[in-house]
Amino acid sequence: MKTLMLSASDKNAPVEAAKIIQQGGLVAIPTETVYGLGANAMDEEAVAKIFLAKGRPQDNPLIIHISCAEELNLYCHDIPQSAWLLAEHFWPGPLTMVLPVRDCVPKRTTAGLDTVAVRCPKTEVTRALIREAGVPIAAPSANLSGKPSTTTAAHVLHDYGTDGKIDAIIDGGPCEVGVESTIVDLTGEKPRLLRPGGITPEELTALLGELEIDRAVLGQISNDTVVRAPGMKYKHYAPSAEVYIINGTTEAAAAYIHRHFSDGDAVLCYEEELPLYEGCNPTAYGSIQNVKTLSAGLFAALRALDRPEIKTIYARCPEGGGVAYAVGNRLKKAAAFRIVNAEDET
Ligand code: TXA
Ligand code: MG
Repeated sequence: MKTLMLSASDKNAPVEAAKIIQQGGLVAIPTETVYGLGANAMDEEAVAKIFLAKGRPQDNPLIIHISCAEELNLYCHDIPQSAWLLAEHFWPGPLTMVLPVRDCVPKRTTAGLDTVAVRCPKTEVTRALIREAGVPIAAPSANLSGKPSTTTAAHVLHDYGTDGKIDAIIDGGPCEVGVESTIVDLTGEKPRLLRPGGITPEELTALLGELEIDRAVLGQISNDTVVRAPGMKYKHYAPSAEVYIINGTTEAAAAYIHRHFSDGDAVLCYEEELPLYEGCNPTAYGSIQNVKTLSAGLFAALRALDRPEIKTIYARCPEGGGVAYAVGNRLKKAAAFRIVNAEDET
């Protein structure tokens, strides 16, 4: 069977896609963060297909996508006031909340945890699909496991082809945010950031008054460590080349990279720095003047650099809070936290 290509601008797309979801099929869905690989979250067999198609470890739970905040009551219990407050401010949008799960949600979806991650995405066609299907949609990022996330329908096609490995793709154009949602765990004493994203730590702290940062956000986690967001321990977002982050001033980083560059290497930098890397196979992922362009462009650039002939990628990485915190987190993970300060080597 061929993969059905649907366009978000076609008004029948939600109806067509909902039929597939109700029959237990897989539909790649556009969201404002990244494309997801969606199935009926309440159907164990359909959810099993997601793990199989992606090659995803079974102990890595899925986010369920709902069409409005009220639906939280159907799948979660003991919902704290903070969750309603966050929903009011940031939904629909790039924020996922971890809450106590009701028994109706299958164990395959939650990987047997007593919590579930829930998000209400901003993308209109995807919320229309959830409403039409009448079920929540479980969806991890649509990339094959371990690869950079998918931020266009073409990325999804690249990973799965058109010969029916997945049943349909809804093309909603490039994703606006470009990195996966912010995840906040609301089941502990204090709200805890499990993954930074488009909703920033500053925005969350302003609303919640306090926010703990999980250690999986800050550094490399070994495979046998128990972490709150199981997915954070896996190698992620990585092209096949070894990525090195080169910190320091524009000049110091350029000097360092030119000293170490050899044939078969590549540079991932800001638009403003392109002229400095002539002859060094540079790719720009956005402008350092506008960090949102860096988050929107990061995964497409990492994918473009995922070629067997590229052995080492020297990357420039924004520092600081806001959206830069999420961009830095993804890039550091892609680099397995190999970070060099160019100014240390003279
Ligand atoms: O933006 C996004 O969140 C995208 C789009 C499609 O919505 N989805 C996404 O899903 O990034 P995925 O599966 O690639 O990442 C979900 C992360 C994983 O690290 C997983 O371990 C964690 O969320 N997670 C899921 N359920 C959890 C739970 N109950 N407690 C803690 N972490 C959970
Ligand atoms: Mg993912």
